[in-house]
Amino acid sequence: MNRRLLWYLVLLTSMSVVSFFSLINYVSSEAESEMSLLSEESKNTLKQWGQVAESYYSSQDVMGLEQWLAELQYKHSVWAAVVEHQTKQIAGGQEGGEYYRGYNLGRNIDWQIHLYFHENPIMELPFSEGNTSFLIRLPDNMRPGSYWQTTKVILQLVFPLVFLSVLSLIIYRHIMRPLLLLKRATSDFSAGNFDVRVSNKMQSEHEEFRQLATTFDGMATRIGEQLVAQRQLIGDFSHELRTPLTRLDIAIENLCNTQTDEVSLSRITKETHIIRHLVEDTLTFAWLENEHKRMGDESYDVVDLLDSIIDDARFEFPTHIVNTLLPNDCVVENSNHRALGPAIENIVRNALKYSPTGSTVEVSVKKTLTNIAIEVCDQGKGVETHQLEAIFQPFFRLDNARRPNSDSFGMGLALAKRQILSIGGTVYAQNRAARNTQVTGLIVTIHLPLR
Ligand SMILES: Nc1ncnc2c1ncn2[C@@H]1O[C@H](COP(=O)(O)OP(=O)(O)OP(=O)(O)O)[C@@H](O)[C@H]1O
Ligand SMILES: [Mg+2]
Repeated sequence: MNRRLLWYLVLLTSMSVVSFFSLINYVSSEAESEMSLLSEESKNTLKQWGQVAESYYSSQDVMGLEQWLAELQYKHSVWAAVVEHQTKQIAGGQEGGEYYRGYNLGRNIDWQIHLYFHENPIMELPFSEGNTSFLIRLPDNMRPGSYWQTTKVILQLVFPLVFLSVLSLIIYRHIMRPLLLLKRATSDFSAGNFDVRVSNKMQSEHEEFRQLATTFDGMATRIGEQLVAQRQLIGDFSHELRTPLTRLDIAIENLCNTQTDEVSLSRITKETHIIRHLVEDTLTFAWLENEHKRMGDESYDVVDLLDSIIDDARFEFPTHIVNTLLPNDCVVENSNHRALGPAIENIVRNALKYSPTGSTVEVSVKKTLTNIAIEVCDQGKGVETHQLEAIFQPFFRLDNARRPNSDSFGMGLALAKRQILSIGGTVYAQNRAARNTQVTGLIVTIHLPLR
């Protein structure tokens, strides 16, 4: 299965999370180094104090220096002193003159201050003569990075939280958009709108969602068609049932008026027979239509089956001629004669019913390696080309079958089609005129797999 959505999510989350945290890291270290430097104002003040100390020191006014330092310490609550560097070499380091010159007792005012240390550092301002410095513990009011803690919380907590929430929202919306479309379509469908489809609205979505949409559309089409067909079936069924019931009512009324009425009695018998026939056909059709089960665990000879159907037909329609062109035998496997028998029976009976007296009906079987074709061909008027498919719909009848008192409901071919489908075959009708324009009549062909 195509996993484009998975790769999209993996790339989106990993790339954005890694880039975001690298950026946060960079911004944090930049902010920290920027915030750990002394302000220009603090540096200038410290430099000034260094110069004052140096002037006392140069003029050798030790008392003055002492007094000034005492005032400074008191005023700013800090420790301050003027000290001479006395590095005493104990052993080694003979070549380290450079090092002794660069040696510092405190921090240079241009260096960064460690923001994590609680104690303020000692700052050093060296005098020009090189061996003496003014040292002072950095006063609290000069300590840099007063906003560092807040900045740290914002950068390391608030920003990631906001970022991850936005990222989750983007992913959520990305997944929810097609799901919402599906949800809406499902609600519309359950509210009775069987025409709702989603594939066309999901063209820009990921493959996974497009597949889901195609499955939904397939399901909607199939269930929609089934529901519409069932409604139609029930509507037609009730309509067909009404006619024999009305005739039954009249016959019963007549019977009530006269003590013995043989005509009414035979009418009642006929109408109840019609109603039973109608109910049985409709229920079998509804069962076959809904079950979609493949029926077939039987092997039988189609020629034997046809022989018995044709014998019955010849007996029932003595005014017609039934010719056959059959092989000696033709065994089909994984089939069901209870499904094929009634289907062929109806097609043969139609051919005889809808063709003139004295005409010929031909039944033939052609066998190939993989399937067989059963053809029933008559010399009637045939069916208009645009209605060749419609005759397989339930309760569909042409004018030739709409005679009053006719016991034809238009269920025979509908049933035959479902019965043949249930054993893996197909059936279709064509006019003889399509093969030979000189003759009229209908040819109904059944194709069956041999195995
Ligand atoms: N061989 C044919 N020639 C001409 N019209 C036909 C032929 N077979 C079927 N038809 C037409 O197709 C319609 C549907 O046939 P179908 O067998 O389904 O119903 P029916 O014969 O009218 O009734 P039922 O079979 O339920 O008793 C028929 O009413 C008839 O108008
Ligand atoms: Mg029929």
